[in-house]
Amino acid sequence: MKHYESLAGGSGRSVYYRARRLRAAEVFSSELAVARLDGRPVQIENLSMSGIALIDGDANADWSERAGDSVPVEITLGGETAFSSPGLICRVEEAARGQLVGIRFVDDFLDMAALIRRHEQLLLKFDLDRPADVELEAVPGAYRTLCADVIHLLRRQKALLARFRVRANGHAPIPPEDMEDAYRACEAGLLRDWKTLWQRGEDIVGAFAHDSVQVRAIKRFTEQVLTPEFMDGPIWQRSFEKPLGYPGDFKIMRMVYAWAREGKDPYGQLLHRLGLEVAECIATRMVLVQQSIAETIRRRAKAGEVARIASLGCGPAKEVQNILQASRLDGAAAFTLIDQEEEALAHAYEEAMPNLARLGGQASVNCLHLSFRQLLSGRAVAEALGPQDMIYAVGLVDYFRERQAQRLIAGLYGHVEPGGLLMIGNMADSALSNYWPMEFIADWNVIYRSREEMQRLAADCAGAEVTVRPDRTGRVWMLQLRRPDAA
Ligand SMILES: C[S@@+](CC[C@H](N)C(=O)[O-])C[C@H]1O[C@@H](n2cnc3c(N)ncnc32)[C@H](O)[C@@H]1O
Repeated sequence: MKHYESLAGGSGRSVYYRARRLRAAEVFSSELAVARLDGRPVQIENLSMSGIALIDGDANADWSERAGDSVPVEITLGGETAFSSPGLICRVEEAARGQLVGIRFVDDFLDMAALIRRHEQLLLKFDLDRPADVELEAVPGAYRTLCADVIHLLRRQKALLARFRVRANGHAPIPPEDMEDAYRACEAGLLRDWKTLWQRGEDIVGAFAHDSVQVRAIKRFTEQVLTPEFMDGPIWQRSFEKPLGYPGDFKIMRMVYAWAREGKDPYGQLLHRLGLEVAECIATRMVLVQQSIAETIRRRAKAGEVARIASLGCGPAKEVQNILQASRLDGAAAFTLIDQEEEALAHAYEEAMPNLARLGGQASVNCLHLSFRQLLSGRAVAEALGPQDMIYAVGLVDYFRERQAQRLIAGLYGHVEPGGLLMIGNMADSALSNYWPMEFIADWNVIYRSREEMQRLAADCAGAEVTVRPDRTGRVWMLQLRRPDAA
């Protein structure tokens, strides 16, 4: 129990109370809600009593010069005006789906409870008035068949396992090794057939990827029909529910790296295994980073120097843990791990500690609880990072549109020493990409890039030696920028 005198308030910016902010999906589970900013259609990102964050997905939209302007904000529900007030633009940022505009209401407030209630009333009426097959019309027949085939495959494996458990149980309990053999056989069959269905999913949704109305309809259908079936698999459930409020948190990364049998029963474990199959490229890209870290340490050791290595959006920093676990290091290394998630940093630090102690000062780990924005905008922070022999960000740029990714990469490249390396990982738009399972089943949105688009991310890094290579699965690109040695 804590004593009154030791209870602390906030610190820094957190001393200022901010009204509770809800993500749009928590408030509006449908597309009945439509927002307009200065008359332009925009998407709602999140909202609170005192403000709203809106995304303008029009590639030509540019709100960056409008900070401080008062603009009309309108929310309609099924065509009925539910809120209308001027608001002050207080921030403009690049986000994966467009430009994010933060608005503060000055003379009015959003009555969230009333808004939610009205939305639910209208939604019920809307859903009841509309025959179910109207929704289905927008979903291609081939896709509906695919979903039936996926469910058939999953339930077939489930039934096979259940039948084995019952039938093989003659007069004595089934020996664990028999159950294990049966599980493994089901797993192998499932993985084989899943690959075919995954490819079919990619082929069907790939054809509609640029039609946002069609994508929304297919997503809605998938979330009603397929997603619930996958929720027994822990990696699918966490990916879909996003308990920390954003996709791809460090606990999901840990699931991939652990590659363990997780799930409350054999069926859940099979589903988890399918999720790992999809997420395999997270592990393979990590190995590429680990190899480059080892190479950087050896390179600097030859010059008798400590290798300075920084990871932005480090998550659990598994590649660093793997390097530190080796019985000996080929040189000395100082790691800087940066993430906006304090829990991720705590995990990474605590994992590293025993090995740092064993290595007796040959390696160090410094954690910075920062967003990339703070890192690139604050001079003091930039100085704290200092020049680096290797910087990498994997699983971060995938969330940024091209312009913002280019700025981030140029900012990071500015911290790379001559001879040093900047490594950027991004999901690839390959023939069998993660697009269908991640975007449609798990509602995990990232930007899938072509090799040419990866190359373009280095546009603002004059003089860099740029290479783009795929990971072993072909589902991730690694963009590498080497700063030439000083002449
Ligand atoms: C998909 S995970 C990748 C983690 C790690 N690089 C890996 O591959 O295992 C993305 C990480 O980026 C972090 N992140 C997201 N937005 C960030 C931001 N604005 N600034 C810093 N880190 C961020 C998340 O907290 C998360 O740990």
